[in-house]
Amino acid sequence: MTLRADISGMPVDRTPFYIAAISRRVEEEAGLLLPPSRYPMIEARLKRRLARLDLGSYRDYLRLIDGPDGATERATLLGLLTTHVSHFFREPHHFQMMRDRLLPPLIAEAQAGRKLRFWSAGGAAGQEAYSLALTLLDLVPNAALLNIEILATDLDAAQTARAARAHYPTAALAEIPPPFRQHCLPSSGGFTLSDSVRGLVRCRTQNLHADWQAEPPFHAILCRNVLIYFEPKARERLISRFAGALTNGGWLLLGHADRMTGPAAAHLNALGQTVYCKGDGGPG
Ligand SMILES: C[S@@+](CC[C@H](N)C(=O)[O-])C[C@H]1O[C@@H](n2cnc3c(N)ncnc32)[C@H](O)[C@@H]1O
Repeated sequence: MTLRADISGMPVDRTPFYIAAISRRVEEEAGLLLPPSRYPMIEARLKRRLARLDLGSYRDYLRLIDGPDGATERATLLGLLTTHVSHFFREPHHFQMMRDRLLPPLIAEAQAGRKLRFWSAGGAAGQEAYSLALTLLDLVPNAALLNIEILATDLDAAQTARAARAHYPTAALAEIPPPFRQHCLPSSGGFTLSDSVRGLVRCRTQNLHADWQAEPPFHAILCRNVLIYFEPKARERLISRFAGALTNGGWLLLGHADRMTGPAAAHLNALGQTVYCKGDGGPG
């Protein structure tokens, strides 16, 4: 357990001190990299939060998150300081590669009774998991009859709730290739994905740096545009844990700005741009 300094005698006007302390809490809990250059952004976002909570100072806020009932506010804080930008079929080459190379042999195995598992880790509001579900359904329209599960997790419970609702604004429709739009059903100011798409996806809140509720092994893990926010050691640790959670032949897909680092790189072979395969070959 991390020892917390006693701040009761500290003056309230030491804003930089409290912002640094709050940033350290976030780094410890979520592995996020928050160097001093980001402190102005943190201060700006917290200012609004303080007003909302009717707190008079950053010291009061630090007390709140360190206090016995701090867990809920810490979760809100993590949500405030993370970026949730995502799109359907973002980095489309990943979905094309899965469609061409990963999925056909796996689907044949699923048709022979095998369970298939995929994980969108740090998947924001579900766009990544549902893009995979749409790709699968296009290849195998009766996917619901097979034992296939896509786990969609995010640190931020608000994102998980959005993923579970599977309701998106009309503008997001343009991100979905026309043949898949049959699964986008118009509903209040946007569209909701069809039950056959939603039925393949299970949504959960999960801090990737905590113990995982996710049950390995996975045939593919997508962790894209998430690692860039973590400090280097946390990144390496996570890639090692992902490698351990993949089937032999399973794929790890990272984002365009992420880098493969750490000891696990020796077991993950590059197949294409930011696509890595555990071991030597096809799906195992
Ligand atoms: C920029 S979005 C990327 C979404 C999606 N993977 C994509 O590429 O479009 C980053 C997501 O990572 C999540 N995230 C950040 N830190 C996390 C952590 N420690 N555990 C789980 N998710 C985390 C954020 O909540 C956010 O939704």
